[in-house]
Amino acid sequence: MKYEKILEPGRIGSMELRNRMIMPGMGTNLAAADGTVSDVIVNYYARRANGGVGMIITEVCCPDPLGRVIPGEIEATYDYFMPGLSRIPHAIHSGGAKACLQLAHGGCFASEHVTGEPPLTPSGVGTMLLPDENPRTMTVEQIHELVDKYAQAARRARDCGFDAVEIHGAHGYMPLQFLSPYTNRREDAYGGSLENRARFPLEIIKKIREYVGTDLNIIYRLSGEEYVPDGLTIEDACQFAKMAQEAGVDAINVSAGTWDSRMEKYFSVMLEGKSAEGMGLSHGVGISTWVPPNYTPRGTMIHLAAAVKKAVSIPVIAVCGISPEMGEEILEGNNADFIAIGRQTIADPDYPNKIKEGKANEIRRCLRCNECLGDVMRNCGISCAINPEAGKEYEGYTTVKPAQTIKNIAIIGAGPAGMQAALTATERGHKVTLFEKNSELGGALYYVSIPDFKEDYKDYTKQMIEAVKRCGAVIKTGTEATPEIIRQGGFDTVIVASGAATYIPAIPGAQDAKILDPLKVLDSKESTGDTVIVCGAGLVGCEVAMFLAEQGKEVTMVDMLSSAAPDMTVFSKWVLEGKLAELGVKVKGNHKITEMTGESVSCDFEGNHAVFKADSVVCALGLKSCRSILEELRAGCKGVEIIPVGDVNKPRKIMQATHEGFHAARRV
Ligand SMILES: Cc1cc2nc3c(=O)[nH]c(=O)nc-3n(C[C@H](O)[C@H](O)[C@H](O)COP(=O)(O)OP(=O)(O)OC[C@H]3O[C@@H](n4cnc5c(N)ncnc54)[C@H](O)[C@@H]3O)c2cc1C
Ligand SMILES: Cc1cc2nc3c(=O)[nH]c(=O)nc-3n(C[C@H](O)[C@H](O)[C@H](O)COP(=O)(O)O)c2cc1C
Ligand code: SF4
Repeated sequence: MKYEKILEPGRIGSMELRNRMIMPGMGTNLAAADGTVSDVIVNYYARRANGGVGMIITEVCCPDPLGRVIPGEIEATYDYFMPGLSRIPHAIHSGGAKACLQLAHGGCFASEHVTGEPPLTPSGVGTMLLPDENPRTMTVEQIHELVDKYAQAARRARDCGFDAVEIHGAHGYMPLQFLSPYTNRREDAYGGSLENRARFPLEIIKKIREYVGTDLNIIYRLSGEEYVPDGLTIEDACQFAKMAQEAGVDAINVSAGTWDSRMEKYFSVMLEGKSAEGMGLSHGVGISTWVPPNYTPRGTMIHLAAAVKKAVSIPVIAVCGISPEMGEEILEGNNADFIAIGRQTIADPDYPNKIKEGKANEIRRCLRCNECLGDVMRNCGISCAINPEAGKEYEGYTTVKPAQTIKNIAIIGAGPAGMQAALTATERGHKVTLFEKNSELGGALYYVSIPDFKEDYKDYTKQMIEAVKRCGAVIKTGTEATPEIIRQGGFDTVIVASGAATYIPAIPGAQDAKILDPLKVLDSKESTGDTVIVCGAGLVGCEVAMFLAEQGKEVTMVDMLSSAAPDMTVFSKWVLEGKLAELGVKVKGNHKITEMTGESVSCDFEGNHAVFKADSVVCALGLKSCRSILEELRAGCKGVEIIPVGDVNKPRKIMQATHEGFHAARRV
């Protein structure tokens, strides 16, 4: 594909961006405990600026201590924070990008656990995500004070060297809580009509202009739809965008959603663009609305940016699941002026430079797995499943240095752990031989990426396989490594990445030949009847159930745990559960399986006996590490360094496989 538009320089207010790619605000949870900027954050942004992006919008930064949403959030509340804040534009400018500070007050989502006081809100409406909070209604005086705090924070941003501020008026933050008829029930000058609801955000814009003149560019992040009944609609959002332009903003960044975005029919809304109005309230998806996982198609919010673009004459930024290819098309179709690409920038900060250099096929494709978001919201600092360096750029332990002594290294298994180890070890100059007993590289990624809803994983797998083929390792597919082969090869080190295989439990009947293997079902090597019981509601069970239900099969999942996919981050799980419900998959939690046959599953449930019958039974009760080669090597290859990585240690996920493969190869 030819990239032209996305590489063109573009202007927002007085800033010229070197291209049309923007990194949107993404919380990292990496600030120092007192809210000051840390070395870790500075290096995280510098790395991304060096990757070639046109502008970086920082993570949420609160203008008021009562607006903090998570610990580890940066602050611009007092001059005390300015020396730290100044480090961010220095870092971003050193990489050639423009720097924008996102100003965000969490309102009802700024929990008392984080701020020490009950949340401030326009009219006492809380969020169902924090049902135990006691939201307070703001007085007019408090509103005026907060407007002033935003402007003070913007003044600090300007003095610290930022090129712009972004007022976070999307995703349920305070300006949206005022703008939305769902959260704003006031009856004074700040509530009621659109003009009144818009008063608070417009006052912020005007006050910032009063304090900083035209020295600082102002971007407004707006939710084009809230996806709550009686919430903000795209029509109102377009009206507001015009008002914001008039009040002095230089660009509108169009996202969607709020904390309580919820729809019974998530997929009708996200896929068919139907309004959430009038739909039931049963299923909460909250943050997954604006950070959708792989189960949601890419680019579901482009129509909102396109609508806003028709309403205003200032630049419009489109966002959400936009791949670089899609970005080029959006710009070509004049649906937006800039493209914000978020998670891809975490997964591969070099993606803009790769596009520029004609190497888009080398972009390490983001999985949209939302592990990064899960880590941030758990207060554990940002990480990435496929980029072990993300969030750890400052820590010396992720630096890949040339090897001091070139070693002869064997890697056994070409799943994500083995492939990552091969890439890192060859990068360091080691001599590497990669053994894979299958005819293709990829390991379990082959199965992972079979369903259509794992398209992102397919893209990642393809890129990794191509990268491994280019990296200079000797690749031996169709070769099962044995101690004999390792001894003959004269290897100094063996990285064992032999992964895991389907686990067959000691439950009566589980060994029956009629019981189906989930991997073979995915691969169409085994077929099911029209009704299916899937034993196990872990990630694999859920995805097999979804895969079969999408083919029109009637599926029941049975598990002794109370909820599905417990190891999955909730920001993916909410959508997975929504999709399973929409497909009519029945989930029988708290059912302990006691016996299975090819047509039935018996369970203990709350002291009773239950039997489910179906045409087919799939046993997805977990995976088991393939450790035999590891034990054989330990016994038969004395003197050779042996390092197990990935699922051979314990079946887990791509994140652990990739990180362990990376670090083993970085150390040897
Ligand atoms: C259906 C399915 C869906 C999943 N979905 C997700 C998901 O959405 N997100 C997520 O994070 N994780 C997911 N996982 C888990 C994830 O795929 C694994 O954690 C990951 O693949 C482990 O990587 P690995 O490299 O350690 O092992 P594997 O990917 O299992 O690769 C091991 C490789 O070693 C080879 N091998 C074994 N012994 C030898 C030998 N002696 N010689 C040569 N080759 C050998 C095998 O053939 C295999 O190719 C899923 C797993 C499955 C099965
Ligand atoms: C880890 C993480 C943190 C985020 N934090 C913020 C934030 O601080 N402010 C914000 O406006 N959006 C935030 N978002 C949303 C992103 O800006 C972006 O809109 C979203 O990820 C969709 O874009 P993408 O599909 O290109 O990732 C966050 C997203 C992620 C993944
Ligand atoms: S953790 Fe997953 S969603 Fe987040 S950037 Fe990495 S690959 Fe993308």
